[in-house]
Amino acid sequence: MQIFGVDIGGSGIKGAPVDLDKGDLAAERFKVLTPHPATPDGVADGVQQVVEHFGWTGPVGLTFPGVVTGGATVRTAANVDKSWVDTDARALFADRLGGLPVTVVNDADAAGIAEMSFGAGKGRKGTVILLTFGTGIGSAVFTDGVLVPNTELGHLELHGHDAEKRASSKAKEDEDLSWEHWAHRVQKYLAHVEMLFSPELFIIGGGVSRKAAKFLPHVEGIRAEIVPAELQNNAGIVGAAMRAAQGEGKSEG
Ligand code: BGC
Repeated sequence: MQIFGVDIGGSGIKGAPVDLDKGDLAAERFKVLTPHPATPDGVADGVQQVVEHFGWTGPVGLTFPGVVTGGATVRTAANVDKSWVDTDARALFADRLGGLPVTVVNDADAAGIAEMSFGAGKGRKGTVILLTFGTGIGSAVFTDGVLVPNTELGHLELHGHDAEKRASSKAKEDEDLSWEHWAHRVQKYLAHVEMLFSPELFIIGGGVSRKAAKFLPHVEGIRAEIVPAELQNNAGIVGAAMRAAQGEGKSEG
């Protein structure tokens, strides 16, 4: 079975049909640039281009970089245009896509869903936490494979700061930190999350997961196992499609 997945990120809107049995893209993905400011209308234009590129007419799952409730409503917008807050994103996208069935899910939750079924978290019991390090820090918390959605652990307070302002990969770039220096901040952040949740496993996602060898060796003193995500760039697309297949939010109307 195939469902279309779209990952709405800070720099690009990427999508492809997803083969749900394999947990992989069924065709090469297509990407358009995310407009700036990333307003609802501008992003919806991009989503429409990506979906129409494939002539897709079935269900669509989309990620969003903020809290999303009921598979539909955006509640926070830390790194996108503030006009998203309280937008019915499902209605917006469904309208642009000619009434196709649409499900919207937090980006880190989507990545986590994909990693738990097809990647680094496959078959893992207990508490597993996926953290994505990018423009912000996203989180997905699982206990025995079940997701607690919208955990937003990137906004924990760390030494008086919003944690993602200190430890995201954007913070590394903006402050021109060495891998070692940044790893030290990541370590403090992981220690804080570990104190709160005592997970068995941390999965490190986002673009930096490809560079894990550069910073993970500098992260010390964490009891939990720490591994890089395996699906990397496609985790959001795959997870969004999986969420749409589960019919998330339908019962809530
Ligand atoms: C947002 C999260 C999102 C994360 C990664 C944070 O700023 O609040 O909802 O998952 O960035 O995009």
